Amino acid sequence: MRINGNTIFIPGATSGIGLALALRLQDAGNQVIVGGRRTALLNEIAVQHPGIDTIRIDTSDSASIASAAAEVISRHPDLNVVVPMAGIMRAEDWTMPGGFLETAEATVTTNLFGPIRLIAAFAEHLLAQPDATIMTVSSGLAFAPLRFTPTYNATKAAIHQLSETLRLQFEGTSVHIVELVPPSVQTDLMPGHAEDPNAMPLDDYIDETMRLLEAQPDVTEVQVERVKFLRYGEARGDQAQVIAVLNGRESEPAAS
Ligand SMILES: NC(=O)c1ccc[n+]([C@@H]2O[C@H](COP(=O)([O-])OP(=O)(O)OC[C@H]3O[C@@H](n4cnc5c(N)ncnc54)[C@H](OP(=O)(O)O)[C@@H]3O)[C@@H](O)[C@H]2O)c1
Repeated sequence: MRINGNTIFIPGATSGIGLALALRLQDAGNQVIVGGRRTALLNEIAVQHPGIDTIRIDTSDSASIASAAAEVISRHPDLNVVVPMAGIMRAEDWTMPGGFLETAEATVTTNLFGPIRLIAAFAEHLLAQPDATIMTVSSGLAFAPLRFTPTYNATKAAIHQLSETLRLQFEGTSVHIVELVPPSVQTDLMPGHAEDPNAMPLDDYIDETMRLLEAQPDVTEVQVERVKFLRYGEARGDQAQVIAVLNGRESEPAAS
Protein backbone atom coordinates (compact mmCIF):
# COMPACT_ATOMS: atom_id res chain seq x y z
CA MET A 1 0.00 0.00 0.00
CA ARG A 2 1.34 3.42 -0.83
CA ILE A 3 1.66 5.62 2.23
CA ASN A 4 -0.04 8.77 0.93
CA GLY A 5 -2.67 9.97 -1.51
CA ASN A 6 -5.28 7.44 -0.35
CA THR A 7 -8.81 7.86 0.90
CA ILE A 8 -9.03 5.58 3.93
CA PHE A 9 -12.04 4.48 5.99
CA ILE A 10 -11.26 3.07 9.45
CA PRO A 11 -14.36 1.76 11.23
CA GLY A 12 -13.19 1.37 14.84
CA ALA A 13 -11.00 4.45 15.17
CA THR A 14 -12.58 6.48 17.97
CA SER A 15 -9.75 5.31 20.28
CA GLY A 16 -6.64 3.16 20.55
CA ILE A 17 -4.77 1.77 17.54
CA GLY A 18 -7.43 2.91 15.07
CA LEU A 19 -7.37 6.55 16.18
CA ALA A 20 -3.57 6.70 16.42
CA LEU A 21 -3.22 5.16 12.96
CA ALA A 22 -5.88 7.50 11.54
CA LEU A 23 -4.01 10.58 12.79
CA ARG A 24 -0.66 9.37 11.46
CA LEU A 25 -2.16 8.48 8.09
CA GLN A 26 -3.73 11.93 7.89
CA ASP A 27 -0.33 13.50 8.68
CA ALA A 28 1.20 11.37 5.93
CA GLY A 29 -1.13 12.94 3.33
CA ASN A 30 -4.23 10.76 3.23
CA GLN A 31 -7.92 11.63 3.47
CA VAL A 32 -9.12 9.68 6.49
CA ILE A 33 -12.66 8.81 7.58
CA VAL A 34 -13.02 7.64 11.19
CA GLY A 35 -15.91 5.40 12.24
CA GLY A 36 -17.26 4.14 15.55
CA ARG A 37 -20.27 4.12 17.86
CA ARG A 38 -19.30 6.83 20.37
CA THR A 39 -20.66 9.98 18.75
CA ALA A 40 -19.15 12.27 21.42
CA LEU A 41 -15.69 11.01 20.45
CA LEU A 42 -16.47 11.28 16.73
CA ASN A 43 -17.48 14.93 17.26
CA GLU A 44 -14.36 15.61 19.31
CA ILE A 45 -12.11 14.06 16.63
CA ALA A 46 -13.78 16.13 13.90
CA VAL A 47 -13.25 19.35 15.87
CA GLN A 48 -9.67 18.60 16.94
CA HIS A 49 -8.49 17.30 13.57
CA PRO A 50 -9.85 19.39 10.70
CA GLY A 51 -9.91 17.44 7.48
CA ILE A 52 -10.82 14.13 9.09
CA ASP A 53 -14.34 13.04 8.27
CA THR A 54 -16.33 10.97 10.78
CA ILE A 55 -19.28 8.64 10.59
CA ARG A 56 -21.27 6.71 13.16
CA ILE A 57 -21.19 2.98 12.53
CA ASP A 58 -21.95 -0.06 14.65
CA THR A 59 -20.05 -2.92 13.04
CA SER A 60 -22.03 -5.50 15.05
CA ASP A 61 -25.13 -4.43 13.12
CA SER A 62 -25.36 -5.31 9.43
CA ALA A 63 -27.91 -2.54 8.72
CA SER A 64 -25.57 0.05 10.23
CA ILE A 65 -22.69 -1.28 8.09
CA ALA A 66 -24.80 -1.08 4.93
CA SER A 67 -25.97 2.49 5.55
CA ALA A 68 -22.55 3.76 6.67
CA ALA A 69 -20.88 2.13 3.65
CA ALA A 70 -23.32 3.83 1.28
CA GLU A 71 -22.75 7.18 3.02
CA VAL A 72 -18.95 6.89 3.00
CA ILE A 73 -18.86 5.94 -0.70
CA SER A 74 -21.24 8.77 -1.57
CA ARG A 75 -19.18 11.35 0.36
CA HIS A 76 -15.84 9.92 -0.81
CA PRO A 77 -16.12 8.34 -4.25
CA ASP A 78 -12.30 8.02 -4.33
CA LEU A 79 -12.29 5.74 -1.28
CA ASN A 80 -9.61 3.12 -1.93
CA VAL A 81 -8.60 1.73 1.50
CA VAL A 82 -10.79 0.10 4.15
CA VAL A 83 -9.41 -0.94 7.54
CA PRO A 84 -11.91 -3.08 9.51
CA MET A 85 -10.34 -2.19 12.86
CA ALA A 86 -13.29 -2.46 15.30
CA GLY A 87 -12.80 -5.19 17.85
CA ILE A 88 -13.68 -6.23 21.38
CA MET A 89 -11.71 -8.44 23.78
CA ARG A 90 -13.51 -9.93 26.77
CA ALA A 91 -12.46 -12.61 29.23
CA GLU A 92 -14.43 -15.87 29.23
CA ASP A 93 -14.30 -18.97 31.42
CA TRP A 94 -15.60 -21.95 29.48
CA THR A 95 -15.43 -24.14 32.60
CA MET A 96 -18.30 -22.09 34.09
CA PRO A 97 -21.46 -23.27 32.31
CA GLY A 98 -23.70 -20.38 31.39
CA GLY A 99 -21.01 -17.81 31.93
CA PHE A 100 -19.51 -17.29 28.53
CA LEU A 101 -21.86 -17.88 25.60
CA GLU A 102 -23.17 -14.34 25.38
CA THR A 103 -19.64 -12.95 25.38
CA ALA A 104 -18.49 -15.50 22.81
CA GLU A 105 -21.35 -14.64 20.44
CA ALA A 106 -20.78 -10.88 20.82
CA THR A 107 -17.08 -11.39 20.12
CA VAL A 108 -17.73 -13.36 16.93
CA THR A 109 -20.31 -10.77 15.79
CA THR A 110 -17.93 -7.81 16.19
CA ASN A 111 -14.54 -9.36 15.47
CA LEU A 112 -15.42 -11.76 12.66
CA PHE A 113 -18.83 -10.95 11.15
CA GLY A 114 -17.96 -7.24 11.41
CA PRO A 115 -14.93 -7.42 9.09
CA ILE A 116 -16.67 -9.95 6.80
CA ARG A 117 -19.71 -7.69 6.42
CA LEU A 118 -17.53 -4.60 5.94
CA ILE A 119 -15.47 -6.28 3.24
CA ALA A 120 -18.68 -7.48 1.56
CA ALA A 121 -20.07 -3.92 1.67
CA PHE A 122 -16.97 -2.34 0.10
CA ALA A 123 -15.53 -5.03 -2.22
CA GLU A 124 -17.37 -3.97 -5.37
CA HIS A 125 -16.39 -0.33 -4.88
CA LEU A 126 -12.75 -1.20 -4.14
CA LEU A 127 -12.48 -3.48 -7.18
CA ALA A 128 -13.48 -0.51 -9.34
CA GLN A 129 -10.58 1.60 -8.00
CA PRO A 130 -7.22 1.55 -9.80
CA ASP A 131 -5.28 0.77 -6.60
CA ALA A 132 -7.04 -0.38 -3.44
CA THR A 133 -6.28 -2.04 -0.11
CA ILE A 134 -8.21 -3.95 2.52
CA MET A 135 -6.15 -3.81 5.72
CA THR A 136 -7.36 -6.47 8.14
CA VAL A 137 -6.47 -6.48 11.84
CA SER A 138 -5.59 -9.77 13.48
CA SER A 139 -3.33 -10.16 16.55
CA GLY A 140 -0.35 -12.05 17.89
CA LEU A 141 -3.06 -14.07 19.68
CA ALA A 142 -4.05 -15.48 16.29
CA PHE A 143 -0.87 -17.54 16.59
CA ALA A 144 -0.63 -18.38 20.31
CA PRO A 145 -3.55 -18.67 22.76
CA LEU A 146 -4.12 -16.44 25.77
CA ARG A 147 -6.00 -18.60 28.30
CA PHE A 148 -8.53 -15.91 29.32
CA THR A 149 -9.91 -15.11 25.86
CA PRO A 150 -10.74 -18.25 23.85
CA THR A 151 -13.23 -16.67 21.44
CA TYR A 152 -11.12 -13.56 20.90
CA ASN A 153 -8.12 -15.74 19.98
CA ALA A 154 -10.31 -17.81 17.65
CA THR A 155 -11.71 -14.75 15.86
CA LYS A 156 -8.22 -13.37 15.29
CA ALA A 157 -6.99 -16.71 13.94
CA ALA A 158 -9.99 -16.61 11.60
CA ILE A 159 -9.08 -13.08 10.46
CA HIS A 160 -5.55 -14.28 9.67
CA GLN A 161 -6.86 -17.18 7.58
CA LEU A 162 -9.47 -14.96 5.92
CA SER A 163 -6.73 -12.49 4.97
CA GLU A 164 -4.51 -15.22 3.51
CA THR A 165 -7.40 -16.63 1.48
CA LEU A 166 -8.70 -13.29 0.23
CA ARG A 167 -5.16 -12.47 -0.90
CA LEU A 168 -5.36 -15.52 -3.17
CA GLN A 169 -8.83 -14.62 -4.45
CA PHE A 170 -8.01 -10.97 -5.16
CA GLU A 171 -4.71 -11.81 -6.86
CA GLY A 172 -4.64 -10.15 -10.27
CA THR A 173 -7.19 -7.48 -9.26
CA SER A 174 -6.49 -3.93 -8.06
CA VAL A 175 -7.23 -4.91 -4.43
CA HIS A 176 -4.37 -5.77 -2.08
CA ILE A 177 -4.89 -7.54 1.23
CA VAL A 178 -2.65 -6.34 4.05
CA GLU A 179 -2.88 -7.79 7.56
CA LEU A 180 -1.87 -5.81 10.65
CA VAL A 181 -0.70 -8.23 13.35
CA PRO A 182 -0.40 -6.14 16.53
CA PRO A 183 1.32 -7.49 19.62
CA SER A 184 -0.09 -6.47 23.01
CA VAL A 185 -0.42 -2.66 22.75
CA GLN A 186 -1.39 -0.21 25.52
CA THR A 187 -5.01 0.70 24.71
CA ASP A 188 -8.39 0.46 26.45
CA LEU A 189 -9.19 -2.84 24.69
CA MET A 190 -9.46 -4.49 28.13
CA PRO A 191 -9.66 -2.91 31.60
CA GLY A 192 -6.17 -1.95 32.79
CA HIS A 193 -4.56 -2.77 29.42
CA ALA A 194 -3.53 0.86 28.77
CA GLU A 195 -1.33 0.71 31.89
CA ASP A 196 0.05 -2.80 31.33
CA PRO A 197 3.86 -2.50 31.47
CA ASN A 198 4.18 -5.69 29.38
CA ALA A 199 2.21 -4.16 26.52
CA MET A 200 3.86 -2.01 23.85
CA PRO A 201 3.33 1.77 24.19
CA LEU A 202 0.80 2.87 21.55
CA ASP A 203 3.04 5.56 20.04
CA ASP A 204 5.91 3.09 19.65
CA TYR A 205 3.60 0.63 17.94
CA ILE A 206 2.29 3.22 15.48
CA ASP A 207 5.81 4.59 14.79
CA GLU A 208 7.11 1.14 13.90
CA THR A 209 3.99 0.28 11.87
CA MET A 210 4.28 3.48 9.82
CA ARG A 211 7.98 2.81 9.24
CA LEU A 212 7.17 -0.70 7.97
CA LEU A 213 4.41 0.58 5.68
CA GLU A 214 6.70 3.26 4.27
CA ALA A 215 9.69 0.95 3.79
CA GLN A 216 7.71 -1.95 2.30
CA PRO A 217 4.84 -0.76 0.08
CA ASP A 218 4.20 -4.41 -0.93
CA VAL A 219 4.11 -5.77 2.63
CA THR A 220 1.36 -8.35 3.19
CA GLU A 221 1.69 -8.80 6.98
CA VAL A 222 2.71 -5.84 9.11
CA GLN A 223 4.69 -7.38 11.94
CA VAL A 224 6.50 -5.16 14.43
CA GLU A 225 9.45 -6.84 16.14
CA ARG A 226 7.49 -7.36 19.38
CA VAL A 227 4.92 -9.65 17.73
CA LYS A 228 7.41 -12.10 16.26
CA PHE A 229 7.76 -13.99 19.56
CA LEU A 230 4.07 -14.97 19.26
CA ARG A 231 3.90 -15.07 15.46
CA TYR A 232 6.67 -17.56 14.85
CA GLY A 233 6.57 -19.99 17.80
CA GLU A 234 5.39 -22.83 15.55
CA ALA A 235 8.03 -22.07 12.91
CA ARG A 236 10.85 -21.80 15.47
CA GLY A 237 9.69 -24.95 17.25
CA ASP A 238 9.29 -23.26 20.65
CA GLN A 239 5.48 -22.86 20.62
CA ALA A 240 5.05 -24.67 23.96
CA GLN A 241 7.38 -22.16 25.60
CA VAL A 242 5.61 -19.25 23.87
CA ILE A 243 2.27 -20.45 25.28
CA ALA A 244 3.77 -20.89 28.74
CA VAL A 245 5.32 -17.41 28.74
CA LEU A 246 2.17 -15.81 27.34
CA ASN A 247 0.10 -17.37 30.07
CA GLY A 248 2.50 -16.46 32.84
CA ARG A 249 3.73 -19.95 33.66
CA GLU A 250 7.35 -19.18 32.89
CA SER A 251 9.38 -15.97 32.74
CA GLU A 252 10.13 -14.61 29.30
CA PRO A 253 13.65 -15.32 28.09
CA ALA A 254 15.73 -12.14 27.74
CA ALA A 255 16.29 -12.82 24.05
CA SER A 256 12.60 -12.79 23.09
N1 LIG B 1 -4.39 -3.37 21.95
C1 LIG B 1 -3.94 -4.57 21.72
O1 LIG B 1 -3.19 -5.15 22.55
C2 LIG B 1 -4.30 -5.28 20.43
C3 LIG B 1 -3.51 -6.37 20.05
C4 LIG B 1 -3.84 -7.04 18.89
C5 LIG B 1 -4.94 -6.63 18.12
N2 LIG B 1 -5.67 -5.55 18.53
C6 LIG B 1 -6.83 -5.18 17.71
O2 LIG B 1 -6.77 -3.82 17.38
C7 LIG B 1 -8.10 -3.34 17.14
C8 LIG B 1 -8.29 -2.03 17.88
O3 LIG B 1 -8.26 -2.29 19.28
P1 LIG B 1 -7.60 -1.27 20.33
O4 LIG B 1 -6.58 -2.01 21.05
O5 LIG B 1 -7.27 -0.01 19.67
O6 LIG B 1 -8.82 -1.10 21.37
P2 LIG B 1 -9.83 0.11 21.67
O7 LIG B 1 -9.11 1.35 22.06
O8 LIG B 1 -10.83 -0.47 22.59
O9 LIG B 1 -10.48 0.39 20.25
C9 LIG B 1 -11.51 -0.39 19.75
C10 LIG B 1 -12.20 0.41 18.67
O10 LIG B 1 -13.20 -0.44 18.08
C11 LIG B 1 -14.42 0.26 18.06
N3 LIG B 1 -15.52 -0.68 18.15
C12 LIG B 1 -15.69 -1.70 19.01
N4 LIG B 1 -16.87 -2.29 18.79
C13 LIG B 1 -17.44 -1.61 17.75
C14 LIG B 1 -18.67 -1.72 17.07
N5 LIG B 1 -19.58 -2.65 17.37
N6 LIG B 1 -18.93 -0.84 16.06
C15 LIG B 1 -18.02 0.11 15.74
N7 LIG B 1 -16.85 0.26 16.35
C16 LIG B 1 -16.58 -0.58 17.36
C17 LIG B 1 -14.37 1.23 19.23
O11 LIG B 1 -15.19 2.34 18.94
P3 LIG B 1 -16.61 2.65 19.63
O12 LIG B 1 -16.57 2.10 21.03
O13 LIG B 1 -16.69 4.15 19.57
O14 LIG B 1 -17.61 1.98 18.78
C18 LIG B 1 -12.91 1.64 19.20
O15 LIG B 1 -12.72 2.71 18.32
C19 LIG B 1 -9.03 -4.46 17.59
O16 LIG B 1 -9.46 -5.19 16.46
C20 LIG B 1 -8.15 -5.33 18.45
O17 LIG B 1 -8.57 -6.66 18.50
C21 LIG B 1 -5.37 -4.87 19.66
